[in-house]
Amino acid sequence: MKDQINLVEKEAREDLSRIDSVDSAEAFRVAYLGKKGKLTELFKKLGAVPPEEKKAVGAELNRVKQWLESAVEEFRQKAPKTGAPLEMFDETLPGVRPTQGSIHLLQQTIQEISGIFSRMGFETVEGPEIETEFHNFTALNIPLDHPSRDAFDTFYTTHGQLLRSQTSTVQIRVMKERKPPLKIIAPGRVYRPDTVDASHSFMFHQIEGLMVDDRVTFSDLKGVLHLFLRELFGSQTKIRFRPHFFPFTEPSVEIDIQWGKGWLEILGAGSVDPNVFKEVKYDTSVVRGFAFGLGVERIAMLRHGINDIRHFYENDLRFLRQF
Ligand code: DAH
Repeated sequence: MKDQINLVEKEAREDLSRIDSVDSAEAFRVAYLGKKGKLTELFKKLGAVPPEEKKAVGAELNRVKQWLESAVEEFRQKAPKTGAPLEMFDETLPGVRPTQGSIHLLQQTIQEISGIFSRMGFETVEGPEIETEFHNFTALNIPLDHPSRDAFDTFYTTHGQLLRSQTSTVQIRVMKERKPPLKIIAPGRVYRPDTVDASHSFMFHQIEGLMVDDRVTFSDLKGVLHLFLRELFGSQTKIRFRPHFFPFTEPSVEIDIQWGKGWLEILGAGSVDPNVFKEVKYDTSVVRGFAFGLGVERIAMLRHGINDIRHFYENDLRFLRQF
């Protein structure tokens, strides 16, 4: 008896998966629960079951019956009343437009900046994020014991490498590979062990720039960066140069733009320090150059009124869809 019940249950399970309309649900019900239904027939045999087994077999039969009834009921509720197939295709309904992605705002900003420099003849190049101490510090005139190392300190790997803390590393890579003249910009990620808050992140993006030739002067630096900032922030933008210190440039400046009533720092720049040229074996009696570096997040935040740097990295579509 047990085996027969199991068999009927198994068949029912298979038939159930083929139900696709109210009509076939009804046919299914009759086939199992109707007067001559498969399960009804088993109920009829209950009388012949030995008394000590009756209770267990009866319970088993009722379990299957309840399951069949509720399965049929479920189909009745889901199905349209007409007996039409459950899955209908209405070709007159409007289609579902696929959502269109967009380029991340940081990437858009990098592309826009690269575009401006490209029109001034600068080539965009990239360098690795995992770097050596040589490229991130030593070659950039930041000796091991120099206090300015603190400002650019970073994460170290167990193999004596590090995550670059500035894109200035790419200056060194390009100069070691090529001879002047050079006009490059290098966008990319940099890392610093900063505590994350509204204006700091352990990872952010920079764009480095470098121009080297035999007659590059500080006025070229001024002309190029002036034009760049006016292209980016508008032709009326007021710009201010402030003396500063960077180990890899001499003299060095920070460049501010006027913002409301005050000034905002936007760029670091300067004439390439002869010690950097020496590291890459350029002839310091001939070559001259200027370099600069800027933070991409900062520029995107200013231009779009974004008040928290973390928005860039959280992949919240409500933020991303706005750009
Ligand atoms: N590497 C600097 C930083 O991370 C930015 C910078 C300043 C780059 C001056 C330069 C430069 O090339 O000349 O803060």
